Amino acid sequence: MARDHVKVWAPASVANVAVGYDILGFAINGPGDEVLIKPGTKKGLKIIKITGGKGLPLDPEKNTAGFAALRLLEELGLQDEPIEMEIRKKMPFGSGLGSSAASAVGGVFAVHEFFKTGLQKRDILKHAVAGEQIADGAWHADNVAPSLLGGMTLIRDNSSLDIHKLYIPKAMQVVVIYPKVEILTKDSRAILSDSLTLDQHIAQSGNLGAFIIGMYNSDFDLIQRSLQDLIIEPQRAQLIPEFYKMKEAALEEGALGFSISGAGPSMFAMTNNSYVSERIVERAKKIYAAKKIRIKTYTSEINQEGAYLC
Ligand code: HSE
Repeated sequence: MARDHVKVWAPASVANVAVGYDILGFAINGPGDEVLIKPGTKKGLKIIKITGGKGLPLDPEKNTAGFAALRLLEELGLQDEPIEMEIRKKMPFGSGLGSSAASAVGGVFAVHEFFKTGLQKRDILKHAVAGEQIADGAWHADNVAPSLLGGMTLIRDNSSLDIHKLYIPKAMQVVVIYPKVEILTKDSRAILSDSLTLDQHIAQSGNLGAFIIGMYNSDFDLIQRSLQDLIIEPQRAQLIPEFYKMKEAALEEGALGFSISGAGPSMFAMTNNSYVSERIVERAKKIYAAKKIRIKTYTSEINQEGAYLC
């Protein structure tokens, strides 16, 4: 039997993490999406209200939350059940923080909780990926998986969703800096070259492997040496105002690494020290104030829980 109503939370996330384009991501605390479901009066799923996201479609087939929810409803044979969905976006759109992923996760997870499906989170993941796909046209779970499952997730293979949660060293923190310019993921993907040299492949594979060893051994020196994006960051940095100035400042302050969050314009610094995190926030405020660009910052542990019933 369905519940009377549900409210769920799906957190924002940082994808790519410098070393794992399309295959690595982690969830953060603070920003995210709230999705509510209650019984409706008309047949099928209706999105009755969206707050905090200008211009997002109410048609469930065109909305990332609605699309993901519909696919689960179909799997369950419940597509005609009268239900109403409300989406409360509590994070910026087009920010590189997995906004469409959080909506897709919120939509499918709300249906899962409303109907008490008895499924595992991993069983509904594919519907969230499909929901996000309608936003940027690509099938990748590097935002959706951490938003749903929590933690830092490594995707061995996106098509089969072979996904693994990584160990997170205790002191690890992340500082996210969001300069208020909008970049759509599909545009940020379109500028990327689809070829790379063998030397780039060798260097980047070394960084990804060593980063994971560093995480498991809480070896911050190794994390610092490996947290480098030699392939995607140089192509996208031009889209983000003051990217290299901000990166230099974060590394000077002792960040373990600094790169673009997802498709940008948000950036992230990893640290193992809250004083370093505070200093990076101060430097960001100065750098962007000088350019009259408004920013928002988030300092967070890596969120281990992912989506939850509120
Ligand atoms: N891996 C994706 C990208 C994340 O960088 O395009 C954003 O959806």
